[in-house]
Amino acid sequence: MPWPDLRLFWVQTTLLWALSWLASKPLSILPVEEVTPGEGHQARGVSSHRKKCEPKTDIVFLKVHKSASSTVMNVLFRFGEMHNLTFAFPIGGGNQLSYPHHFFARFVQGFSPRSPRQFNILCHHMRFLQPEVQKVVSSSAVYFSILRNPVQLMESSFMYYKGTSAFSRARSLEEFLSQPYHYYNPAKSDSHYAKNLMTFDFGFNPNGEASAKRVQLMLKAIEASFDLLLISEYFDESMVLLKEILCWDLDSVVSFPLNIRDSSTKSPLSDTIVEKIKDWNRLDWEIYTYFNRTFWERIDRDIGRERMQREVQVLRERQAELARTCLQGTGSVAPKDIKDSSLQPLQHGNAKILGYNLKQGLDKEMEHMCRRLVTPELQYSSALYKKQFARKPPQPHQPAPSQQGNVLRHKLEGTQN
Ligand SMILES: *[C@@H]1O[C@H](CO)[C@@H](O)[C@H](O)[C@H]1NC(C)=O
Ligand SMILES: *[C@@H]1O[C@H](CO)[C@@H](O)[C@H](O)[C@H]1NC(C)=O
Repeated sequence: MPWPDLRLFWVQTTLLWALSWLASKPLSILPVEEVTPGEGHQARGVSSHRKKCEPKTDIVFLKVHKSASSTVMNVLFRFGEMHNLTFAFPIGGGNQLSYPHHFFARFVQGFSPRSPRQFNILCHHMRFLQPEVQKVVSSSAVYFSILRNPVQLMESSFMYYKGTSAFSRARSLEEFLSQPYHYYNPAKSDSHYAKNLMTFDFGFNPNGEASAKRVQLMLKAIEASFDLLLISEYFDESMVLLKEILCWDLDSVVSFPLNIRDSSTKSPLSDTIVEKIKDWNRLDWEIYTYFNRTFWERIDRDIGRERMQREVQVLRERQAELARTCLQGTGSVAPKDIKDSSLQPLQHGNAKILGYNLKQGLDKEMEHMCRRLVTPELQYSSALYKKQFARKPPQPHQPAPSQQGNVLRHKLEGTQN
């Protein structure tokens, strides 16, 4: 089958299952919390002082490229490690789950079609395909992702993926956008970094026409699969919303920005360029503006702006406190200044990716906690991979113990305060 047909096939399949999923899913996607009288304004998923909700431990995170998703991944890694949760790792402990191909369950270490085994957290890079994802996680898993303004995303992608076929011959983003089809060939296997990258990661065709009908279908399909879409421009608000939905405590979502680049490779974009980027990434733009709207509606409905502001304040104070405790200096440093090589982030493309130095002389427990906050994703992922498969080697022929859920719930009691 020639490539364009195959893509069309994928899009159709994706839409079909999304629609059937929509039909099969109850209207309220998250389990409804009991609401104590007088707390009617605290919608489901929101913890209250009087009634505890249960921390969610089954999670699917679609790690959209270049959208602060490495920082979110660190949050998931830390929570999973702390609570001995299992991760759906790529086979061999790699960094991506069959990306840029659509996700396949069989690319997960320890998965076997004959006796499917479920994992708590799926968060490595993938191109989303729900029927396959469902084979490796619990049916009650919470699905979420994080989106970024496509204008900044494109600019970032151009720097980071400068070596890919579409970008390598263009001297600047301006030059690329002045005649994109001179550089961009949708048939190239790395072309997705150059156009509608979010659309692509969600499993859709990035070269599809942006008709109103098609956009509607795509938005509905995403909405049917995902419980929550976060917005990286409102990162702190996103983390507060996330902890509410997952019923986690605040400390679990405090983080330091990871995989961020030095501002020396950033330059302001003219209005003309901004418009060109929006046009070129029309599908991404539609996704972003739609879910930016529903994000704020969700906050208004579930939390309220006032409480959100207070919680964001507390989150920032806690982050500042951790920075004073854990870090040398005031924050991130250039790669050449990172003293501990195990904290050195992967350098890629033309971007200069920053990292951190830990304070000297921390006691063992504190050093461990601090180290986890600043460990780059590749190192953290491979450490967790080793731990998971040292503790419990892959046993593809043994069904998942049915007690696991209860045991975990039991273990997690008391983590919410
Ligand atoms: C996780 O596993 C370790 C080692 O088996 C154990 O000491 C620890 O108590 C467990 N933590 C939780 C939260 O279950
Ligand atoms: C996102 O939503 C906020 C709050 O409603 C709004 O101020 C902002 O302009 C929106 N961003 C975009 C790109 O639509």
